[in-house]
Amino acid sequence: MDKFIIEGGERLYGSVAVQSAKNSVLPLLAASILTEERVTLKNVPRITDVACMGQILCELGAEVRFAGEDISIESAHASNHRISSSLTKELRSSVFMLGALLSRFGRAVCAYPGGCDIGLRPIDLHLNALKRLGVEIVERDGMIFCTCEKLRGAELVLDFPSVGATENILLAAVTANGKTVIEGAAKEPEIVDLQNFLNAMGADVRGAGTDVIEIAGVKALHGTEYTPIRDRIEAGSFLIGCAICGGELEVSGVRAEMIGLLLHKLRENGCKIHTKNDKIRIVSEGRLKANRRIETLPFPGFPTDLQAQAVALNSTCEGGALIVENLFETRYKYVPELMKMGADIEVKGRTAFVRGVKRLHGARVTCGDLRGGAALVLAALGAEGTSEVLDLSHVDRGYARLEEKLQKLGAKIRRVRM
Ligand code: UD1
Repeated sequence: MDKFIIEGGERLYGSVAVQSAKNSVLPLLAASILTEERVTLKNVPRITDVACMGQILCELGAEVRFAGEDISIESAHASNHRISSSLTKELRSSVFMLGALLSRFGRAVCAYPGGCDIGLRPIDLHLNALKRLGVEIVERDGMIFCTCEKLRGAELVLDFPSVGATENILLAAVTANGKTVIEGAAKEPEIVDLQNFLNAMGADVRGAGTDVIEIAGVKALHGTEYTPIRDRIEAGSFLIGCAICGGELEVSGVRAEMIGLLLHKLRENGCKIHTKNDKIRIVSEGRLKANRRIETLPFPGFPTDLQAQAVALNSTCEGGALIVENLFETRYKYVPELMKMGADIEVKGRTAFVRGVKRLHGARVTCGDLRGGAALVLAALGAEGTSEVLDLSHVDRGYARLEEKLQKLGAKIRRVRM
């Protein structure tokens, strides 16, 4: 497993263009199975989650071609509706293939994704919604068997605005008989992107980005070429990295409203932020002030996927910060690693109390999940001395060429292949 060697203490200067959003590309790839025609996604990041979704599509019988930054999927000959357990376990998001497979074949089988490194992550909302659309579901020996004659539209109310459940319903409902209404839908920008992509394939979806999404079922979808939205979490990670290290950075590809609350918090820290169209410029000078409180919430709240990076930032700010993680039960597993670098953090249930220290020091730390791993990398960039960040497989799931991008900004980071 690869590791990073990072010599901390360099300020970050320059500009960085962020990649397409992982959390958009994955459901879009799932959606590609909805048509027999070719679908091309442009500017897709070479991250392992995308590779894994590609493997799942191949397993279903689709032809998947990578050409530079583009990926094309042709599934005219796809006939398999079963995703093997090993792939479901590797990529939890494969669960939203259920909706797409049911739409295409009227059947779907996959392993129960189970708990993971950040929490229990049940899929009851997904399964209940699919049942309401006419799907029969049998759970046996850790597997989920779904069948339906024909999906039929329904009025659905989500108890919680789950991103994955909203996407699964969209994928199932686009070709259902009649109209589906989702009340209490997730409002993340990636849901809007999925709506736009499905409509480009001939679907009739509206309302994404609000609480209520309406889907009028259509007979069939067709191929399309599409450029997914850019990754607001990658953008946020770079901005936080610059806040930690000091310097001046321009991040392009993401509009301010996609990470509005992060920008507000960075200003609270004392960073200067300027935004124009899809460019965000940050200037970070001197010691920053801690945020008094950050609470993760569904969009447009503070993203849980930036919680760990925000904790890393606050660990060297002046004062103390209270962080509340509302989305996932066990999303502080990276904290003991951060403490090896000298951070002073106390975790109680969903809350972390961060007492800012002057400086972190280099240490040997291990990534345990994607965003926690990113937080360790950013903390090491700002720390005094050399750090080793081990087990990059987690980071590689969501950040493409991270070290190259950081090196261009002046960071001393290199990958050692193990
Ligand atoms: C997606 C993102 C992930 C992000 C998360 C929250 C992708 C590929 N992943 O994950 O990066 O951290 O949104 O913004 O887009 N829940 C249930 N029952 C369900 C479904 C969810 O109780 O059936 C709970 C979960 O346990 C969690 C909360 O709802 O506590 C949010 O989950 P959800 O919005 O579904 O996140 P994901 O789609 O898994």
